[in-house]
Amino acid sequence: MGQIRHFIAITEEIKNHLQFLAESGCPGFDCSKESLEIIRFWGKRVSPHRRQTKAIVSENLEAIRRNLGDCRRCKLSHSRTHIVFGSGNPEARLVFVGDAPGYDEDSGGEPFAGASGELLTKIIQAMKLSREQVYLCNIVKCRPPGTRDPEPGEIRICLPFLKRQLKAVSPEFVCTLGALAAQTLLEKTAPVSMLRGRFYDCMGFRLIPTYHPEDILREKDNLPEYNRLRSSVWEDIKKIMKGLGID
Ligand code: URA
Repeated sequence: MGQIRHFIAITEEIKNHLQFLAESGCPGFDCSKESLEIIRFWGKRVSPHRRQTKAIVSENLEAIRRNLGDCRRCKLSHSRTHIVFGSGNPEARLVFVGDAPGYDEDSGGEPFAGASGELLTKIIQAMKLSREQVYLCNIVKCRPPGTRDPEPGEIRICLPFLKRQLKAVSPEFVCTLGALAAQTLLEKTAPVSMLRGRFYDCMGFRLIPTYHPEDILREKDNLPEYNRLRSSVWEDIKKIMKGLGID
């Protein structure tokens, strides 16, 4: 609690100083009305339902994509074909976050395009939603070579973009898929089996971790484990459906 208060106090100080510099006409600062309006809300929690406030508090996805550009911030850029930014409804009530693009996603530039994406699409449809109604993205935006896990340094560089995307979409629910996405956003090291099944507060959103579709598909030759993972995911998904008011 003390740490949070300390953080809010620092945010407040930075905010005031930037506002002072901007209003004094210092060059190098964006003094536009929109930016000053954003600074005014720093450190304050904004309800995701206050859409008109959201419009001035957060940047939009196009601006974040533009800022990402032809990203060369880490070595994943050396081997990638496409940046996989994210796709779906920019005002989604639910965002799914996976770990990293794989071969199919790297080839086409769209998240969840391969086998695990197919299973995710079925899960979304079982929720009586479509891929176009939710937003899909990953912890890192470029495929790690050989589809290895992204390294901590690669995650550290890419994460601010994901966080900005989450703020821009401002969903009610975030569902992380697999260990890496949950551990990264929750800043925890416990396995997904321990983290899953309950809601956490993350950046003001309700975040629920569940297994990755890939975790399920990996067990397709081990029927008891396959079924266990499937029903665990469905349990978690039903909690989100309840929260969204889908019965
Ligand atoms: N696995 C992920 O975590 N994300 C994708 O986009 C594809 C596969």
